[in-house]
Amino acid sequence: MTRLALTINGRAIDPIEVRDDLSMNDFLREHLGMTGTKFGCGAAQCLSCTIIVDNPDGTSDTTPTCIVPAASFNGKAIRTVEGHARDGQLTALQKAFIDHFAFQCGYCTAGFLNEAQVLLERLAKKPVARTELEKTIEEALDGHICRCTGYIKYHEAVRDVILADPQRYLA
Ligand code: FES
Ligand code: FES
Repeated sequence: MTRLALTINGRAIDPIEVRDDLSMNDFLREHLGMTGTKFGCGAAQCLSCTIIVDNPDGTSDTTPTCIVPAASFNGKAIRTVEGHARDGQLTALQKAFIDHFAFQCGYCTAGFLNEAQVLLERLAKKPVARTELEKTIEEALDGHICRCTGYIKYHEAVRDVILADPQRYLA
């Protein structure tokens, strides 16, 4: 057992005893009722279960949760799909996903959203040339599987958000 304490979407979660074989996905969905994080393949292949990990150095990464023990997040700060909108206001990225009809069933959406958010934050710190943008988005979203709408609509939505604020994201 591990006494798990972590921060989720900026809020410290009261320490809780968890089995060492409990996955992070089960912890979020079953223990905390945070069902926005999905469970797809269960084998780190589809990335529908992806969340954001905020590192102490100010960088952020994404990680699947289906095969990763909850205990390994002890002391960490993470973000989930539930943490994006503020006071009922969707982010520009969320709005772009809707405007582009980027999803149908929505099963993959939380994973794409978290991945794209990390990309935006990375570009805000280290902008890329316009000529590198398509490849940069492709590489960032690579590995996320969508069975409904395909990938181009997510790609276009992310591109739109970036092109709407070139001074922030482009070199
Ligand atoms: S459910 Fe985790 S990668 Fe598919
Ligand atoms: S919207 Fe259904 S899997 Fe992507």
